[in-house]
Amino acid sequence: MQGDLKVFSGSSHSGLAAGIASHIGMPLGKARINRFSNENIKVKIEENVRGADVFVVQTSCPPVSDNLVEMLIMLDALKYSSASRITAVLPYFPYARSDKKDESRISITARLVADLLQTAGADRVLTMTLHAPQILGFFRNPADQLMAHPILINYFRQKNLSNTIVVATDAGSAKFAGHFAKRIGTPMAIIDKRRTDDTESPQSVALIGDVNGKDVIIYDDEIATGGSIREAARILRDFGAKEVCVGVTHGVLSGNAAEVLNKADLDELVVTDTIPIAEPKLSSIKNLRVLTTAPLFGEAIKRIHAGLSLSELMEA
Ligand code: R5P
Repeated sequence: MQGDLKVFSGSSHSGLAAGIASHIGMPLGKARINRFSNENIKVKIEENVRGADVFVVQTSCPPVSDNLVEMLIMLDALKYSSASRITAVLPYFPYARSDKKDESRISITARLVADLLQTAGADRVLTMTLHAPQILGFFRNPADQLMAHPILINYFRQKNLSNTIVVATDAGSAKFAGHFAKRIGTPMAIIDKRRTDDTESPQSVALIGDVNGKDVIIYDDEIATGGSIREAARILRDFGAKEVCVGVTHGVLSGNAAEVLNKADLDELVVTDTIPIAEPKLSSIKNLRVLTTAPLFGEAIKRIHAGLSLSELMEA
């Protein structure tokens, strides 16, 4: 049996952390985070955590590297404050874009981050919709991956899906798009997306499946620059799609994504709140809807604390 449950928040997404704590029915733990003039970060845990079962919520959003280092320092501070078990809760996992050795002389940064989290003191990890599922295997300690599927599925089920088809933006997202389509009872199609380099300018070159006259839900794990969604929407309209909606877990929305997405002529863009979307971006993106993940993370934390299974949370 673990000690008292406590939830702390880093500075990346205090709104989500507060929502998680509120779902559990407890206040956030007290910690003070200071930045010195030389940009060094100092964390002080301002309550007793000796013997406690502690969860620290920190997502990956700008400044990405600072937020990661802040998380490492929080974990270290909690370890030295004698918490009995520490779970790093990473709604959007940092540095996940490099997850395999597919080029010479590169770092597998997702594995490096897994090593750093463990070295800093994380006994467990809780995350959501990884860019690649094999990242879970980079941890020697237990790691749980939640999927946003139940949240997205509950939302899209409220619509008339009788003429709907789910479309994966590329082969990489096809497996999970297939699960998603099966759960909402629709067929699926796959776009052949090509990237020639790291310029984040993909091209949709072909479509496998028939979208003519159909309402489409484009499925993907994340929107970064919006290039993949723009390309997907373009090819789907070319092939006669009617309504084009998007269901994505992580709304990274980097650079001029808002502009790119607004030009893509989407009927609805649904993301979750694993990453904070601040004003003016929030209201500048047309037809954007943000669904909260706080109850799902809160429930997962309660179950991990009580030693219960998380499998049911994957269902909708
Ligand atoms: C594969 O590359 C991913 O599943 C996403 O499609 C990608 O990360 C989205 O990035 P962007 O919005 O920059 O095209």
